[in-house]
Amino acid sequence: MAQIIDGKKVSARVKAEVKKEADVLREKGIEIGLAVVIVGNDPASRVYVNNKKKACEEVGFVSYEYALPEKTTEKELLALVDKLNKDDKVNGILVQLPLPKHINENSIINAIRPEKDVDAFHPENVGHIMIGDFSFLPCTPAGVMELIADTGVDVCGKRCVVIGRSNIVGKPMAMLLLHANGTVTICHSRTKDLAGICSEADILVAAVGKAGFVTSDMIKEGAVVIDVGMNRDENGKLCGDVDFASCADKAGYITPVPGGVGPMTIAMLMKNTLTAAKQKNNIK
Ligand code: GUN
Repeated sequence: MAQIIDGKKVSARVKAEVKKEADVLREKGIEIGLAVVIVGNDPASRVYVNNKKKACEEVGFVSYEYALPEKTTEKELLALVDKLNKDDKVNGILVQLPLPKHINENSIINAIRPEKDVDAFHPENVGHIMIGDFSFLPCTPAGVMELIADTGVDVCGKRCVVIGRSNIVGKPMAMLLLHANGTVTICHSRTKDLAGICSEADILVAAVGKAGFVTSDMIKEGAVVIDVGMNRDENGKLCGDVDFASCADKAGYITPVPGGVGPMTIAMLMKNTLTAAKQKNNIK
């Protein structure tokens, strides 16, 4: 039976570290502020945004929430981003994705000042991640790296397979594993023999968005299996991309859903917001 990687425990540690630094900054008169913008009524986005707000309270940040109606225009959203860019109380800006179809996500991401882009989605920050010289961590991939580190398994020289090639998870995930000297393969919907490639992975990261996509025949005995998926099963229950019941018997380490990657994404967002505040105030 695999060891369960406890995302709640690791995220609590990261948030405690952030809180400690935020407390020191507050004593110097520096308040840290995170603005979270949500457009429309997507229930999953609502849950994420509420969790981000809760995390801000836990670490002692001020959170500014902007819940805009579905019919908000791109121009109106750009005007809000511009206002937040100029607001000294706001250290980090997060616009929750996905946005309604009539708003171009890239034009919004590109409008956020890179030094406030705590998601690390702006092309300038993406470029820094590619080069390996970055201060903002891509939140979900960085959270995954913390979870892998918690297992004690060294990524160096390992065969790492990422399933999914999104800009939010798959691509930056591959970069972080590569920076840690893993041998990285990215699989996607057009990959031939996906199951065969996955079954050679010492470290397998699933970010597909399909419930139960990874089955036990696709994983190597003793592998580290990280499940980034956040899906609903036929009964509406939250579940990942990995068929946990069968894979837990074969993997060496495995993340649960919920309680695995999810809490880590938010903890790393707090870390990035702290970094933004430190950089603004020239604190190392
Ligand atoms: N939607 C799903 N994940 C994320 C995330 O990490 N950041 C933002 N802004 N939107 C998301």
